[in-house]
Amino acid sequence: MSLLASLAAAAQLGATAPAAADLSEARWLAPDTDVLAFLTEAPGECLPATLRTSAAAQVEAGRALFRSPLIFGGPAARYGLSCNACHRDGRSNPRFFFDGLSGEPGTADVTTALFSASREDGVFNPRPIPDLVGAGAKKSLGSAGSFHDLEAFIDAAVAEEFQGDVEPSLVAALAAYLRALDPAACTGPRSIGLATALADFRRALDAADAALARADHALADALFLAALQDLQRVAERYRPLPALLSRIHAKAAELTSARRAAAQSPEAGRAALRRFRSGLADFDAALSAAQADSLYDRDVLAASLKR
Ligand code: HEC
Repeated sequence: MSLLASLAAAAQLGATAPAAADLSEARWLAPDTDVLAFLTEAPGECLPATLRTSAAAQVEAGRALFRSPLIFGGPAARYGLSCNACHRDGRSNPRFFFDGLSGEPGTADVTTALFSASREDGVFNPRPIPDLVGAGAKKSLGSAGSFHDLEAFIDAAVAEEFQGDVEPSLVAALAAYLRALDPAACTGPRSIGLATALADFRRALDAADAALARADHALADALFLAALQDLQRVAERYRPLPALLSRIHAKAAELTSARRAAAQSPEAGRAALRRFRSGLADFDAALSAAQADSLYDRDVLAASLKR
């Protein structure tokens, strides 16, 4: 079954993937996963520090898109599946599991429809999710080896497997991000928490601003959505704290207005983004002050996972 078919089947059954403590980040995990470890540590990204600047706007845009479920259309978007869900930090994900799609944990059947949408043979052949570091230098991609450049591979993956309709500038950004991943820049496992989530959020906003500066409407809009998804993930961790939760929702509403302004004109969008960002220091401080009571706190998270 293709990924899309599996997701559609799950949707029909009304079966939302069971999520530990209802966090979307903990979907797609094999049953015996150490969820606490998974939610507090990531494999580590191999992005050279020199590229983590606004000068590398294209790479930063690709990074944000890679983490955003919304570049995929249909069921995949609804279920919160992003590139990063499988290729965590651009690496693999030994704990990934989705019934009907995975064999062993860490595998997924994304090949059948991907390589021959018209010749789907109904064979279940999940493949290990590969580490993407170095993929940009490969002469052939995927185990069938039928793609010779990242753009073609990504375009086919999103269009055929996920039925997403993706603008070329989004594909170019994703490819730029993957090409930037460098084995020499791997840092090893990193902790994840509020600070990394807020950094991801700000980087998506920077990338949206850079796309508006280039008047790339499609890319900017996708990056607004990526940033909104980042906020959504933060909101899930503040569910025990209603006051902060409503503050996050208010921020999301404000960002949605900025997105609308950007759809009118890049200048209006950039002005709205500037206003939005001028309130961010206070927002971050409020979240940090309450972090110890949120699901970013290891003990609070551990307790909520036991329930
Ligand atoms: C459901 C899990 C899943 C998702 C989501 C996913 N991938 Fe993959 N990806 C895989 C698997 C499995 C393979 C191996 C396919 C094969 O062996 O033919 C793969 C292969 C690749 C490859 C080829 C790597 C190589 O060395 O040959 C690239 C590049 C890639 N994915 C990029 C992406 C991008 C970009 C996205 C988001 C648009 C994405 N993937 C989303 C599971 C996934």
